[in-house]
Amino acid sequence: MFRKNLKNEFWTEKAKKEGYPARSVYKLKEIDEKFRLIKKGDKILDLGCAPGSWLLYISERTGDEGVVFGIDFDDIKIELAKNIFFEKKDVMEEILKEKNFDLVVSDLAPKTTGIKNVDSGKSLELCVRAFEIAKIVLMPSGNFVCKIFEGSESDDFFKEIKKDFNFSTRFKPKAVLRQSKEIYIIAKDFNKG
Ligand SMILES: C[S@@+](CC[C@H](N)C(=O)[O-])C[C@H]1O[C@@H](n2cnc3c(N)ncnc32)[C@H](O)[C@@H]1O
Repeated sequence: MFRKNLKNEFWTEKAKKEGYPARSVYKLKEIDEKFRLIKKGDKILDLGCAPGSWLLYISERTGDEGVVFGIDFDDIKIELAKNIFFEKKDVMEEILKEKNFDLVVSDLAPKTTGIKNVDSGKSLELCVRAFEIAKIVLMPSGNFVCKIFEGSESDDFFKEIKKDFNFSTRFKPKAVLRQSKEIYIIAKDFNKG
């Protein structure tokens, strides 16, 4: 417990110093650096974007030539740069008229109960929805990143993703606690059918 708190504190302090509202930014940063996902000028959709640290990071990486759309049913806690657009909505509702995204990222997470099967089941529902949205809005060859809590059905979900992308893998960033069930699916090069 002590080690867990220390690790959380380290990333939280770092985020505070660097002007991000949440430590989760370091998960996306590591994923981006390792898998080379975000380019200047990209158009990106961020599902479950509050409080907004991924939005901020993406907006910096795409620059003013790019654009990032964020969706969450909670409020964000960042100032909107001119390349950031935010919609306060439940992703389960119909969303977005925008299409042709280079990248869809989902850090969607349910409110956890502490009961593993319940939490991984709820996480899977959000992942299935994020994947459904990605398939509609991604451009051919676009990329998809999705957080999932590993559980009995997460392997089947990963197999579904594999069918639609030419590259896919699972990755656990350093800012995720070792004992956590949270991992990220990275899928690149969408085969739009
Ligand atoms: C871990 S947080 C995202 C942190 C964010 N990536 C950041 O760096 O600031 C997960 C988010 O998913 C959102 N969320 C969960 N279910 C949702 C839903 N059905 N519709 C919209 N947002 C949802 C929560 O409100 C929460 O803000």
